[in-house]
Amino acid sequence: MTGTQCFVIQANTPLARDVYDLTLAGDTAPLTAPGQFVNVALPGFYLRRPLSVCDWAPGVLRLIYKVVGRGTAALADLRPGQELDLLLPLGNGFSVPEGIKAPLLIGGGVGTPPLYGLARVLAEWGLAPTVVLGFQTGEDVFLEEDFAALGCAAFVATQDGGRGTQGLVTDLPALKSGAHDYYFTCGPQGMLRAVHGALDIPGQLSFEERMACGFGACMGCSCKTLYGSKRICKDGPVLQSGEVLWEEGAQ
Ligand SMILES: Cc1cc2nc3c(=O)[nH]c(=O)nc-3n(C[C@H](O)[C@H](O)[C@H](O)COP(=O)(O)OP(=O)(O)OC[C@H]3O[C@@H](n4cnc5c(N)ncnc54)[C@H](O)[C@@H]3O)c2cc1C
Ligand code: FES
Repeated sequence: MTGTQCFVIQANTPLARDVYDLTLAGDTAPLTAPGQFVNVALPGFYLRRPLSVCDWAPGVLRLIYKVVGRGTAALADLRPGQELDLLLPLGNGFSVPEGIKAPLLIGGGVGTPPLYGLARVLAEWGLAPTVVLGFQTGEDVFLEEDFAALGCAAFVATQDGGRGTQGLVTDLPALKSGAHDYYFTCGPQGMLRAVHGALDIPGQLSFEERMACGFGACMGCSCKTLYGSKRICKDGPVLQSGEVLWEEGAQ
C-alpha cells in the first residue's frame, strides 16, 4: 500500500557529472517490482520530486539522480544522517513475461537507474541481460561496471565518443544483433521512440514524463495508447511497446 515513510541518508556521493548515488535506510517492504518510483519530499519545496528506484534490498534503497534544477540541487546538499520523507511505492514497474530467454535492456542518461534493479532480478533468475546504454559524453557515463558485475554484457554509446562507441544507443551493434527476444527501455521520449522503431521484438517502455500531482489526479502526464489516455504516474510509468500511440511529428 502506498504511503509516506521516513528514510535516513546513508550516502549521497557523486557518480558522474552532476549525477549522485543516494543510499537510504528505511522500510523497502512495500516495493514490489523493478521500475517503480518514489516521490521525494524536499525541505522547502511544495512539490515532491519523482525518482526511479535503482535498486533495493530489505532496509536499503538506492536512488540515482541528476542535478537539473533547484530540487535536485537541494537533494545533493543533504548529508548522511539526515532524514527524507518518501512516498512509495509508485507506478507499476516492469513485469517479466514468462518464457523470455534473451532480454535486452536499453537505457538513456538518467533513464538508466531503474534498469539496474531489473538487471539484478533477471540475473538472479539466470537471465542476465545484454545492456546497451547511451549518454551525451564520456563524463556522463555511470553504472556500466555495475551491470558488468551482475554478469551482463554491457555496451556504451556516447555522442561525443568520449567512452564506448561514438553515436546514439541505436547505433550500437548489440542492439541490432537480432539475438534478443524481448526488450525493456527507459530514457528520454525521443530515445524510446527510436528504440521502438529499431526493434521488431516486443518490449516495455518506461516514461519519465514531467509530472504535476504525481498520483493520478490531474492528467498532467497523460500518454495516448490503444486503450485511451493513460497517466504515466498512475497507470505507468511502464507501458507495453504495442500499446503506445506515437503522435505524428512528436519526438
Ligand atoms: C517516473 C519518473 C522517474 C524519474 N526517475 C529519475 C531518476 O531515477 N533519476 C533522475 O535523475 N531523474 C529522474 N526523473 C526526473 C526527475 O524527477 C526530475 O529531474 C526532477 O524532478 C527535477 O527536479 P528539480 O527541482 O531539480 O528541477 P526543476 O527545477 O523542476 O526543473 C529543472 C529542469 O529539469 C527539467 N525536468 C523537470 N522534471 C523533469 C522530468 N520528469 N523529466 C525530464 N526533465 C525534467 C525541467 O524541464 C527543467 O528544465 C524521473 C521522473 C519521473 C517522472
Ligand atoms: S501527474 Fe497528475 S495525473 Fe499524473
